[in-house]
Amino acid sequence: MPAGGFSVSAPTGVEFEAKITPIVIISCIMAATGGLMFGYDVGISGGVTSMDDFLIKFFPTVYRKKHEDKESNYCKYDNQGLQLFTSSLYLAGLTATFFASYTTRNLGRRLTMLIAGVFFIVGVIFNGAAQNLAMLIVGRILLGCGVGFANQAVPLFLSEIAPTRIRGGLNILFQLNVTIGILFANLINYGTSKIHPWGWRLSLSLAGIPAVLLTLGALFVTDTPNSLIERGHLEEGKRVLKKIRGTENVDPEFNEIVEASRIAHEVKHPFRNLLLLRNRPQLVIAVLLQIFQQFTGINAIMFYAPVLFNTLGFKSDASLYSAVITGAVNVLSTLVSVYSVDKVGRRLLLLEAGVQMFFSQAIIAVILGIKVTDHSDNLSHGWAILVVVLVCTFVSSFAWSWGPLGWLIPSETFPLETRSAGQSVTVCVNLLFTFVIAQAFLSMLCHMKYGIFAFFSAWVIVMSIFVLFLLPETKNVPIEEMTERVWKQHWFWKRFVDDDEHILNGDAEKNGKISNGKHEA
Ligand code: BGC
Repeated sequence: MPAGGFSVSAPTGVEFEAKITPIVIISCIMAATGGLMFGYDVGISGGVTSMDDFLIKFFPTVYRKKHEDKESNYCKYDNQGLQLFTSSLYLAGLTATFFASYTTRNLGRRLTMLIAGVFFIVGVIFNGAAQNLAMLIVGRILLGCGVGFANQAVPLFLSEIAPTRIRGGLNILFQLNVTIGILFANLINYGTSKIHPWGWRLSLSLAGIPAVLLTLGALFVTDTPNSLIERGHLEEGKRVLKKIRGTENVDPEFNEIVEASRIAHEVKHPFRNLLLLRNRPQLVIAVLLQIFQQFTGINAIMFYAPVLFNTLGFKSDASLYSAVITGAVNVLSTLVSVYSVDKVGRRLLLLEAGVQMFFSQAIIAVILGIKVTDHSDNLSHGWAILVVVLVCTFVSSFAWSWGPLGWLIPSETFPLETRSAGQSVTVCVNLLFTFVIAQAFLSMLCHMKYGIFAFFSAWVIVMSIFVLFLLPETKNVPIEEMTERVWKQHWFWKRFVDDDEHILNGDAEKNGKISNGKHEA
């Protein structure tokens, strides 16, 4: 889960007094609806775009191609308009993140979530009522704006409201809800594909449920103390802190938020600060983790599972059914991560998953290479089941590694003053590469055929080597001690932190302007 803003843990790793109060539980439910909404949007388009009624109405050429024998199996769905329907959401989302980082800071987390909810509701109305392609794409763009705002604000809200000792678990809870959203979307598509000719409308309209939940939640829940204090409402911030922590004894945490807010205010240009040499390791890692997460090829499966299984010669119904199985595996395997991430650590999960993902994809490539030719969709029952099993093996390893950790690691490695800006960059790069994959996958499938799985498996090797040598373990390291205990100790990254300190110290000697290794304003 992306996190940012201010930490509520003391720099020494000492815990503040905090109970798990009803308001914290309500916040979790809210975060859940934000994640659900994102997951639902990820999952819904694949099923809808494989429904004949939908294709006849909006993409008649794709419909004709699909039912003509002439076209290569791998190219049936290769249509820029169809890809734009799926991917416009991500393009809109990554643009919206920059506005969202402004509103999150200046209007608060709660209002930003409200804005997201309103975007979602209007987007759902456009999509559900769509009469032509333009309405459909406009609706998707509005949903994308919702995703941009929600993915920036909900995780921030969650991480600020959570007591330190359950923050890690809540991180992955967000991803868990993304996977539940995807599963729901697949299940709903499975049901609505039988309703002619308007089943697709129901699929797109049911996104209204998480959208309304998020909006109502944002209306009723209080903003975080961090956001209130940052915006100058000190008394209200303290009152809220007492309420959410269930104790009168909040002064240590309150003082730390006030101090964090002071330091954050001194940083006039958070994005420029992010480019300082000493923030380079975290920045490089956050950006690469997002790129790698998407180059596992997960979304090729999440968006296009039904289309993909159709390509392999499954009948439409069986395709959606298989997509539901993949979705369920995704949810259950995320629980493995919730349970084990703080026990076995991030690196072990990523490295184990690297091996599993590589073999699953490589074997799929070989099977398809031998069995699926351009014009005969003749995967026999046995082979088809093996492909589904391999897709599940792939999805499960992603779900306990790159899925949640792609969000968790960037959220826990940035120092406080750049955590928010780092979060924006993380969300933006993630959505950018999600867009790239969404837009390119069907053309890649058409041109590279089974080679697409070899392509993604090659990337898995690259990212696993990266993890092996360059990704430090962050398990059990208090969030504010990362620089000292992780970056300054790492064989490669320490040179950036050290070099920057030398530069800083040099400057300080010249200007007499440094204290405790930090810039003074
Ligand atoms: C990724 C999404 C992906 C989902 C699949 C998330 O971590 O960011 O792009 O669709 O996992 O479960």
